[in-house]
Amino acid sequence: MTAIRAAVLRAAGEPAAVERLTLAEPRAGEVRVRILASGVCHSDLHVRDGDWPRPTPLAMGHEGAGVVEAVGPGVRSLSVGQPVALSWLVPCGVCRSCRTGRVWACLDSPSFRHRMPDGATVLSAADGAQVLSYCGIGTMAEATVVPEAAAIALPDGLDPSVAALIGCCVSTGVGAVLKTASVPAGASVAVIGLGGVGLSCVIGAAIAGASRIVALDRVPAKLDAARAVGATDGLISTEDRAATVEALRDLTDGGPDFVFEAIGRVSTVELAIECLPLGGTAIVVGLTPFEARASFGVYPLVDGSRRILGSNYGFADPAIDFPRYAAMHLAGRLPAERLIDRRIGLDDLEGAFDRLRAGQGLRQVLVFD
Ligand code: APR
Ligand code: ZN
Ligand code: ZN
Repeated sequence: MTAIRAAVLRAAGEPAAVERLTLAEPRAGEVRVRILASGVCHSDLHVRDGDWPRPTPLAMGHEGAGVVEAVGPGVRSLSVGQPVALSWLVPCGVCRSCRTGRVWACLDSPSFRHRMPDGATVLSAADGAQVLSYCGIGTMAEATVVPEAAAIALPDGLDPSVAALIGCCVSTGVGAVLKTASVPAGASVAVIGLGGVGLSCVIGAAIAGASRIVALDRVPAKLDAARAVGATDGLISTEDRAATVEALRDLTDGGPDFVFEAIGRVSTVELAIECLPLGGTAIVVGLTPFEARASFGVYPLVDGSRRILGSNYGFADPAIDFPRYAAMHLAGRLPAERLIDRRIGLDDLEGAFDRLRAGQGLRQVLVFD
């Protein structure tokens, strides 16, 4: 048993408070990871605010990294001291998606149940009641116990905050460009929404060798951040959609070949589809509330051979892709450190949520001593 502090959501819409919990010892096939950094992703805010109903009590966080501290019986791929990033999706290995190699689309991942694969929980509160771990990893905590397959070994020498971002926003954004859309060199790209996910799309577009990368946000400071990671142009997007479409077409010779929506708003999903040129592709990366519906003109879609793609987790196969993104970062090609503008302690999580809600700043990362 290990005593830890963790951010726990007791009821959606209420603050996630720091609680003292007990963490069980790793059992067969499980490892304990000492968390060093955990990013504050907009998906955490969706859960905190109740946009996506989740069972509670729930230890928050799904974008984390740290060091293996203990291994259970039978663990072969990891040993104590190994730096890891955590994957928020552990593939079940047997569903149709897993059998066809699309692990990011696993239909029956234990991560969806916020428990270990056998249904067990690893956390308990002071009164002995069980506490779930968000996506089975609950990274906003001093330590966590996860299935071996959730802890992906990374090379030495990575900043833990960068490693944490590889666990969600980097894989989601870079993967949307390189894997989901397979953007070819020379293509024109637009990215709508410049949080951790959108800025990672910009980085992906730069890696792909896009000729033009137009970054859109409603907050001017985000455009500068996008330029710093490879955007060639910045555009303030306003509620006047027609004007935004026109400005985007002007910058991209009639419309960007690939448009990434990285917010999860119906109006910007529709903007992404509307600005496409003939043969263009809109990739929807941002997750909306469950019931959201968007509309588009069917005739231009068919007549212009346009495409709309959904991209969850950047089509990540974490065991393969996390080390690749880490290597690209270490080689200077994936400047994920530029997404981070604030390192904070666990006690400032609610402040971080307030800033995220207000669209202030770039990626905030909780760091642990
Ligand atoms: N027009 C333009 N930009 C907008 C608009 C809008 N109407 N609304 C929000 N934005 C910008 C914000 O200013 C911010 O820069 O979108 C960005 C969103 O970034 P974050 O809140 O940091 O979100 P992030 O963590 O990047 O996640 C984006 O992906 O995985 C999903 O759940 C996640 O839906 C969320 C999305
Ligand atoms: Zn996330
Ligand atoms: Zn599966």
